[in-house]
Amino acid sequence: MSFFDGIPVAPPIEVFHKNQLYLNEKKDNKVNLTIGAYRTEEGKPWVLPVVHNTEVEIANDTTLNHEYLPVLGHEGFRKAATALVLGEDSVAIKEDRAFGIQCLSGTGALRAGAEFLARVAGFKDVYVSNPTWGNHKLVFKNAGFTGLHDYTYWDYQNKRVHIEQLITDLENAADRSVIILHGCAHNPTGMDPTQEQWKRIAEVIKRRNLFTFFDIAYQGFASGDPAADAWAIRYFVDQGLEMVVSQSFAKNFGLYNERVGNLTVVVNNKNVSAGFQSQMSLVIRANWSNPPAHGARIVHKVLTTPALHQQWNESIQAMSSRIKQMRAALRTHLEQLQTPGTWEHITQQIGMFSYTGLTAAQVDHLIAEHQVFLLSDGRINICGLNTKNVEYVAKAIDATVRT
Ligand code: LMR
Repeated sequence: MSFFDGIPVAPPIEVFHKNQLYLNEKKDNKVNLTIGAYRTEEGKPWVLPVVHNTEVEIANDTTLNHEYLPVLGHEGFRKAATALVLGEDSVAIKEDRAFGIQCLSGTGALRAGAEFLARVAGFKDVYVSNPTWGNHKLVFKNAGFTGLHDYTYWDYQNKRVHIEQLITDLENAADRSVIILHGCAHNPTGMDPTQEQWKRIAEVIKRRNLFTFFDIAYQGFASGDPAADAWAIRYFVDQGLEMVVSQSFAKNFGLYNERVGNLTVVVNNKNVSAGFQSQMSLVIRANWSNPPAHGARIVHKVLTTPALHQQWNESIQAMSSRIKQMRAALRTHLEQLQTPGTWEHITQQIGMFSYTGLTAAQVDHLIAEHQVFLLSDGRINICGLNTKNVEYVAKAIDATVRT
């Protein structure tokens, strides 16, 4: 007898499971297009030079110690992260209507924000894009949301954002529903709304009294310019919308396992900030009590030191341009092979991911026959491609599609 008799085995978390299958694979032609992490041309993880140098400086700074941070996190980091997403000259910052809360990467920011919205502010319904990142629904369910809904996002036929149905779905959402929007580089489709489409989304959200929860995990990866990638969020602020924004510094600083994140909060009345922050302190106190300092110190120092900030911008550009080159190379190879289907979406899509349109059966075939590992919905991480393996991957896709 055990207290835990009868607990069923949960299904594996696909992204980590597929990554492990890749690691377990013995054949050396294997290719990892699974987890959303940057890889160099050599297929290796990349510690950004500015991150490494800043870590060394921090390690040598004898004024620092390992005392607890405040519950809401590193003050300078919270400010710098908020300014990064809203813009230094944001009207919400100037009017003291915006603040940051340090969280455990993007997931922690989603979780703290969701729990606050459900338990403290009484929101019940949340809408996620269909498709969306595999963790969104689980986070909101576990945080206390009882109504978990989809809104249409993807036009599978034409491989683009299904804007008309998206707007219709938002029109039909219940009053005070929370709408999760990907700030840029939508995961998994790699396709963002155009500025005109964002304007329509903002209009319906405002008119229908919906609440915006932006998730921006790839700021800098969509265009190579962190400010341009925050356009939609800044537009929503300019429209007078209140919102929360979960920010991850996993990808754009390469700080995956340091769990550096921020929840930026924009309210319409600065007088509500004290209540918000005090209640959020209790949410965080009951979760992780106070956040870790190391990654927050790095991000703070880089973002607030102009020369380091410039080096960071250069690394973002290096990563995003390598991704663009690999998109072009994959598409070119597929078109040269005259692989059945159309492949221009690979270069139309942005950020780390391409939503290839490959079926679950084709994905299984690619893994079993060619040792090319990807997610079952056909999402590939373009960063897993390099000049040595891209032709092999194209040939594997070609052979699979023709099977
Ligand atoms: C991904 O989508 O691959 C990444 O965001 C990693 C994760 O945690 O799912």
